[in-house]
Amino acid sequence: MSARILFVTGTNTDVGKTVATAAVAAAALRAGRKVAVLKPGQTGVAPGEPGDAAEVRRLAGDLTFRELVRYPEPLAPDTAARRAGMAYLSPAEVAGAVAELASTHDLVLVEGAGGLLVRYDDEGRTLADQVRAVLDAGLPAEVLLVASAGLGTLNIVSLTAEALAARELPLTGVVVGSWPADPGLAERCNLADLPRSAGAPLLGALPERAGGAEDFADLAATALAPALGGTWNAEYFAQVHRPA
Ligand SMILES: Nc1ncnc2c1ncn2[C@@H]1O[C@H](COP(=O)(O)OP(=O)(O)OP(=O)(O)O)[C@@H](O)[C@H]1O
Ligand SMILES: [Mg+2]
Repeated sequence: MSARILFVTGTNTDVGKTVATAAVAAAALRAGRKVAVLKPGQTGVAPGEPGDAAEVRRLAGDLTFRELVRYPEPLAPDTAARRAGMAYLSPAEVAGAVAELASTHDLVLVEGAGGLLVRYDDEGRTLADQVRAVLDAGLPAEVLLVASAGLGTLNIVSLTAEALAARELPLTGVVVGSWPADPGLAERCNLADLPRSAGAPLLGALPERAGGAEDFADLAATALAPALGGTWNAEYFAQVHRPA
């Protein structure tokens, strides 16, 4: 059986892509799968410093983690590469690494930088081109969109869904990266509006305290839908948090 390949993008930087990636990884590890996480371009981290790799391992446990390039400044990868005088990362390099990991693992998670159309090189190529390169190599890539919970997220979710559809790239679903302990009206209404804006199902909501959970794998399983290896039920969650 071939590996599942999931590209994780977000509505913005800092929305919880790394935490969501770790959650999907933890659920798969618990089910006995072999998991690899690839961070093609890590920005804002100096050589030797812990990147998203360290955070994913801390949360999810024993998995393969690969980083293809790291740029020191916290900027879009193309700008960070240019300013550091370093090489750009090409979609072909990413597809090569994904293919290699897919041949030895059951699940390959690829975490993008920032949002979908953030540039990786001076030709304007993005995570979307990396997904395309994997598909063109004959592998089954999907995209998972991590969204913030509150006001302002619906527009970016729609823009991202449109950009994926225009490129004929499959959007598997949306995960709320950080669901507040005390959700307001916008957050509650978004549970119904996020899947509408995405044209894809809501596949989980990670509680805002997720990163500090005692049993992260257990929390991941209860915060992710069956399509992502958990037991979370979108209808039940929306019912519990329905707006007044
Ligand atoms: N559900 C959550 N539980 C606990 N902490 C969270 C959660 N979601 C996000 N955070 C925290 O918010 C910050 C940003 O989250 P995260 O690193 O996952 O975002 P990101 O989208 O991966 O950002 P980047 O674009 O830098 O990769 C981190 O400090 C993280 O620990
Ligand atoms: Mg991250």
